[in-house]
Amino acid sequence: MLFKIIQNHLYLFIYLLCISNVNAKSPFNSSFTPEHLRYLKNETKYLFKHAWNSYMEFGFPYDEVRPLTCEPYGPDYKDYMNTVRNDAMANISSTVLDNLDTLIIMEQWDDLDYVLRYLKCKQKDFFNKDSIVQVFETTIRFLGGLMSAHLILTDVKFKTTTSPKFTKIKDEYDGFLLDMAYDLGLRLIPSYRTSTNVPVPRINLANGLKNVPPVLQKDACTSGVTTPVLEFTLLSKLTGDYQFEYYSQLSFWKLWSSKSSLNLMPMTIDPASNQWKDSITGIGASIDSFYEYAAKASIIFDDKYMWSVFKASYQALLTHSAQGGDGAMIFPNVGTEDGVVFSDWIDSLGAFWSGLQVLTGQLSDAIKTHVVYLKIWDYFDSIPERWIYAHHNKKNKKKIYRAEDSIELEWYPLRPEFIESSYYLYRATKDPMYLQIGERVLNLFQDKFKAPCGFSGIQDIKTGKKQNRMETFVMGETLKYLYLLFDTNDEVFLHSPAMNSKNWVFSTEAHPLWFHKGLADENYNFGAQNLSALTNDKFKYTPAVVKNITVSSPYMFNIPDENDAIQHIGKKDPFSGRFDICELNPLKKSSKSLLQSSYYDWPYLFNSDYSFSKSLKKPSHINKSNLDGSYIELTRDFFDKFTTFNTSLTCPRTYNTQIYEIFWGDIKSCGNTEISQIIYKRPNTTESIILEDDLWVPSLQGLRIIFEELVAGSIDSRNEVITNEYISLIQSDDDEDANMYKKKDSVLRIKKINGVSLRYGSLVWTLPFVPNANDNGEVRVTSEGRVVIQGKVIENLVVWYG
Ligand SMILES: *[C@@H]1O[C@H](CO)[C@@H](O)[C@H](O)[C@H]1NC(C)=O
Ligand SMILES: *[C@@H]1O[C@H](CO)[C@@H](O)[C@H](O)[C@H]1NC(C)=O
Ligand SMILES: *[C@@H]1O[C@H](CO)[C@@H](O)[C@H](O)[C@H]1NC(C)=O
Ligand SMILES: *[C@@H]1O[C@H](CO)[C@@H](O)[C@H](O)[C@H]1NC(C)=O
Ligand SMILES: *[C@@H]1O[C@H](CO)[C@@H](O)[C@H](O)[C@H]1NC(C)=O
Ligand SMILES: *[C@@H]1O[C@H](CO)[C@@H](O)[C@H](O)[C@H]1NC(C)=O
Ligand SMILES: *[C@@H]1O[C@H](CO)[C@@H](O)[C@H](O)[C@H]1NC(C)=O
Ligand SMILES: *[C@@H]1O[C@H](CO)[C@@H](O)[C@H](O)[C@H]1NC(C)=O
Repeated sequence: MLFKIIQNHLYLFIYLLCISNVNAKSPFNSSFTPEHLRYLKNETKYLFKHAWNSYMEFGFPYDEVRPLTCEPYGPDYKDYMNTVRNDAMANISSTVLDNLDTLIIMEQWDDLDYVLRYLKCKQKDFFNKDSIVQVFETTIRFLGGLMSAHLILTDVKFKTTTSPKFTKIKDEYDGFLLDMAYDLGLRLIPSYRTSTNVPVPRINLANGLKNVPPVLQKDACTSGVTTPVLEFTLLSKLTGDYQFEYYSQLSFWKLWSSKSSLNLMPMTIDPASNQWKDSITGIGASIDSFYEYAAKASIIFDDKYMWSVFKASYQALLTHSAQGGDGAMIFPNVGTEDGVVFSDWIDSLGAFWSGLQVLTGQLSDAIKTHVVYLKIWDYFDSIPERWIYAHHNKKNKKKIYRAEDSIELEWYPLRPEFIESSYYLYRATKDPMYLQIGERVLNLFQDKFKAPCGFSGIQDIKTGKKQNRMETFVMGETLKYLYLLFDTNDEVFLHSPAMNSKNWVFSTEAHPLWFHKGLADENYNFGAQNLSALTNDKFKYTPAVVKNITVSSPYMFNIPDENDAIQHIGKKDPFSGRFDICELNPLKKSSKSLLQSSYYDWPYLFNSDYSFSKSLKKPSHINKSNLDGSYIELTRDFFDKFTTFNTSLTCPRTYNTQIYEIFWGDIKSCGNTEISQIIYKRPNTTESIILEDDLWVPSLQGLRIIFEELVAGSIDSRNEVITNEYISLIQSDDDEDANMYKKKDSVLRIKKINGVSLRYGSLVWTLPFVPNANDNGEVRVTSEGRVVIQGKVIENLVVWYG
């Protein structure tokens, strides 16, 4: 037995971590050799076949198969209010439609051949079903699924070694899946033709908007309104019928133009009254794929406007939502108008965020976001639909929390997001930790989620009760991403050079989609300019909707560069810089052996365990011992192989300084506040007091600042002990300053300002200002130029006197 001791707290809090001694059942002991990976791929394919064969035997041609009872499953015709069931089912063999591309990825040619023949034969009237479906779900699952299969069958050069059976399928394919997609699109598009250009969320596939009860049309969510823009725009380009692109773009830009002054979008809108119904935002349910598709639409259509939406949104979320210390990042819901944190939970859907962060180049952020979900998975063998990350009850400081206390919504329907993000992170970093995660998830599918007819999710994580449902995304996303994760030698066509020249992305339902000019229908002649023209005459929209979507911070003003001393200085937008570079694995150490996971050199690997210790508890039905293999990053075999045993596995001491946030000035003007990063245009010849990476904030208005309060004797977040000498040094001993702060025994340090973290040793510079009368003398400046608030000197906020 190996024990590692981690000193995790100042007050002799010792955290004992036990390396798990129980092997997963794989005979390969976490070696991740090519042979081992082939084994993992085969096992995953075998799980897929189990699910698929169960569906074909007991579910087909209905929508799904019920995994526990082996019955077909479809819409609830008796109760139209049963939207959980009806939104994504319409007696349209939905498991098939959502898995055509999965069959190709898994190379199940006979099954593919069979279902294609079936669809072709039933094509006419296939979607003519008297069923009320959700437009969003139908678009991402089935419209996307059909278009993806169509693109793969028509626009991919497969290796010559590919099975003759598949070559025959490809040769015989006549494009009918696109016809089916077009038919489905025509049935969905009336939902967008509303007087407000905000689509209604549901439609009857056979009868359109007729007879859809008003109660089902009241609230549309931001994801629901904006997401179809990607599939619909693609459908227009492939078919030449521009109405899909036109209506969905109109709705997308309408919503974006109604965002709050903090660049945050609420999550619910009423299509009839044209009003937002809440003033809350986040990254999870109801809004997740809005950001995802701004980024992905920008990639597949090379659309700079969409990209600017993503960048502005990411900046706003970093400023107003991102929480967590140095080694963890969560994005809880916040108010769109005031930026105040609204919820003490994060949701399971938000686990996709780190995958999107990888795709958009935010690799450090992605690792910090993902690690929180890794810990949740460690403790729950799943992710609760809503997990409470913080227990606020200060009165109950000593209270022992149970697992139940941190589960706000208790189900886990085998969602893909965590494994999806692990796949992205593996492709970006090649760290074997992600393969270990994949193997643990695979083992749970083999042992825990496997049911007589497929896989059943968990209805109640508190008790372990199972769900008698296998949604189409279990095969279409969860098992697909798992399989692709193990495809480390790039055998799947998506990873082959044939795809390198395409701007392909996974849709939010894991359907590969792409576009290039060669695919456009000959009648297609529609584009952004025409959209804005149409926008004007038909709907009297302000052209601002399409034309000026510039939201980057206006950092052009008054750097005092006439001054000789600082002629070498320039400024840049600290946010745009984030997107200009390709970030390499920030955890990677420079040398050492190949067989290493850089996680073991990362000082923050165990930070989340400590920060969220009240919320990370195992439910009683899951083994309590930490020897059961569920602590993925502490699996014995993996640990043995992927550390050098020179790893100390020591966390930095946990800081005991207080960290808090203040809003300075009118927070609504935050989006217009200049915040720039200093760059050196050329080497400085004279001594300079402004250094590269310092920040420049000309005005102290509209700022959101996270402070750390440094008290003598405390340990700060840089793992240093604060001494009295240090505090006196910051306070200086000028007589005039004395009565301002002498009585205070602490100073403040800015950690983050409007979403920008301050680097070690950097300063924030501002222009001389006249303290506001309203401040009642609470804001002052010391003789050395440091800003003081409420008698506390700020270590790193300095006035520039030129
Ligand atoms: C895995 O570990 C077991 C027990 O330690 C050992 O017998 C076996 O040979 C190992 N397998 C591989 C592939 O290393
Ligand atoms: C794939 O996995 C299945 C189930 O474990 C097994 O029966 C089969 O032999 C494996 N095939 C290969 C090629 O390893
Ligand atoms: C659902 O589809 C099946 C198979 O196509 C068909 O037999 C059945 O009548 C349909 N049910 C309804 C209610 O439309
Ligand atoms: C806009 O539409 C006109 C015809 O109405 C067409 O000639 C032109 O090419 C279109 N522009 C774009 C950018 O698609
Ligand atoms: C959009 O641009 C126009 C002219 O370029 C300008 O007058 C208008 O104020 C801008 N609108 C917004 C919302 O920035
Ligand atoms: C709990 O541990 C026992 C004994 O090691 C094992 O048989 C069982 O499968 C474990 N249960 C779970 C849910 O992991
Ligand atoms: C182990 O760490 C020490 C101190 O960091 C270093 O001097 C030594 O070279 C390392 N040994 C190996 C094998 O990496
Ligand atoms: C610029 O000046 C600073 C402070 O004098 C010094 O630390 C820094 O190394 C100089 N940079 C260059 C590129 O000369």
